[in-house]
Amino acid sequence: MKTISPKDLNNLQLQTLLQTAIAPRPIALASTIDAEGNVNLSPFSFFNLFSSNPPVVIFSPARRVRDNTTKHTLENVLEVPEVVIGIVNYPIVQQISLASTEYGKSVNEFVKSGLTMKDAALIRPKIIEECPVNFECKVLEIKHLGTEGGAGNLVICEIIKIHLHEKYLNDEGSLDQIKLDLVARLGGNWYARNNKSNLFEVPKPLVTKGIGFDLLPNEIKYSKIFTGNDLGMLANIEQLPEGNFTVDENLHGEAQKLLQGNNIEKAWETLIL
Ligand SMILES: Cc1cc2nc3c(=O)[nH]c(=O)nc-3n(C[C@H](O)[C@H](O)[C@H](O)COP(=O)(O)O)c2cc1C
Repeated sequence: MKTISPKDLNNLQLQTLLQTAIAPRPIALASTIDAEGNVNLSPFSFFNLFSSNPPVVIFSPARRVRDNTTKHTLENVLEVPEVVIGIVNYPIVQQISLASTEYGKSVNEFVKSGLTMKDAALIRPKIIEECPVNFECKVLEIKHLGTEGGAGNLVICEIIKIHLHEKYLNDEGSLDQIKLDLVARLGGNWYARNNKSNLFEVPKPLVTKGIGFDLLPNEIKYSKIFTGNDLGMLANIEQLPEGNFTVDENLHGEAQKLLQGNNIEKAWETLIL
């Protein structure tokens, strides 16, 4: 294993390593205004949900590594503590990338990126019409993490209004994860797309508690066939079935196929002698 102390890397190397490893990250498209009412729109992938009651999200416009300057978005929320956060999906990924261009302070990135402004219900910054979800937020607190290039500024926001585009809802009126087709940022120029071709579900562990890896029989735990994922599924049963367990690799292969179809009970049946 290669071991590194953050101090051994320069700012750019450290930023690249962190953004490559801590990925994929959701993207907030932040719509803000300054005290004069100038509009700004920029994407931020240092972003996530941290509380649902109260509903709190945080994003971080960092000081530029290049020259330690601050971003218009940060200056704006310091002047007007309100922000609309639009969620980014595949149909607008090129436009949000364009919106990240470092235009001058008076330039409206809605116009530059071809995205559409709509009045928000409760705050002054504009909603982004094309985003599948828009959150109107009031800024609760801004926490500066340092004074050097690369230092983050946590913009801690409470969601006070939510707008959902109908076309991303399912028949029950809830957001549909597949229809959303969300994109996320990784290291360098990499993005991830989350659609039908690569989304998968992992059922939550049993509420009643699975037996765990340590209680798997050795015949199964030390099989050359099973992967860590297979064993993780097998360990998610409430009680180890009675009986002796096969070391037959063909049967282990059959059980593996059943696990791929989420059929844990049947997989265990295959493994009992
Ligand atoms: C997908 C994406 C994610 C980004 N995430 C961040 C981020 O989390 N923090 C940051 O400081 N800059 C981030 N940037 C760069 C900013 O969007 C860029 O510096 C922008 O020009 C800032 O605009 P502003 O000065 O108008 O606020 C990101 C760019 C892209 C394309």
